[in-house]
Amino acid sequence: MNGGASLPGTAKTGPPIVRIGEVESTNDVARVLALAGVPEGAVVVARRQTRGRGRWGRAWAAPPGGVWCSVLLRPTATHPWGLLSLAVAVGAAEAIEKTTGVKTGIRWPNDLVVDGRKVAGVLLEGAGDAVIVGIGINANVPLDALPEDVAPRATSLHLATGQPVDSDGLREAVVGRLMHWYRIWSAGGRGTTEAWRRRDVSRGTRVTAGSPGRTVEGIAEGIDGDGALLLRLASGEIRRVLTGDLIPASGARGAD
Ligand code: BTN
Repeated sequence: MNGGASLPGTAKTGPPIVRIGEVESTNDVARVLALAGVPEGAVVVARRQTRGRGRWGRAWAAPPGGVWCSVLLRPTATHPWGLLSLAVAVGAAEAIEKTTGVKTGIRWPNDLVVDGRKVAGVLLEGAGDAVIVGIGINANVPLDALPEDVAPRATSLHLATGQPVDSDGLREAVVGRLMHWYRIWSAGGRGTTEAWRRRDVSRGTRVTAGSPGRTVEGIAEGIDGDGALLLRLASGEIRRVLTGDLIPASGARGAD
């Protein structure tokens, strides 16, 4: 049209990044943006959340020092979200490793684990036609700033590396890898389960899996092509678990 030059006032801008000091939950802000028609790729990031939430309605402690952010997606694909939630975990693990060098595993479906302790979590929520992907990473969070029942099962990247982590750089890397895996999911998800399996920290261990009030015990045998957990029960039966969390048999749970 005009050789690619932008007309004054029409310069193409990317989706917004909304930075907030303190907020109840970045997912709530992203939801408002989603319902207001803000484009895909918008990011909400907060220094601190006062009512952060985790999976299954659990509270998520989010004091200063963490990466607390939500990304707005507008999927047109109708593939199940289960695989998207695994893909997001793979992307976040890759970003953590690239930014900090810390080897990061995944506990089904999307807890990020370092040295057996939870370092980050992912929460997907719907907002009309949009999906909000909330990611929380204990980047520089001191463990004594976490609730007493959470701290023993949690770790931070600062602790793992012995030095402070560049939170902004980490968040940018996480959003970048998230969008990469989101595009893969949108195109059918090829390679997602394989990438997830390479980071599976639970395979071969005894676990309790499921959602509150509906749990089942067995040996984790990885995931199937849909991302469902495969659990070998005492009877030898292989049970598919489609939704829920995984709880190590010791009773230790993720930093949730
Ligand atoms: C979990 O492991 O249970 C998921 C935790 C997700 C926490 C993040 S922090 C940013 C976003 N806002 C929230 O309230 N929760 C997610």
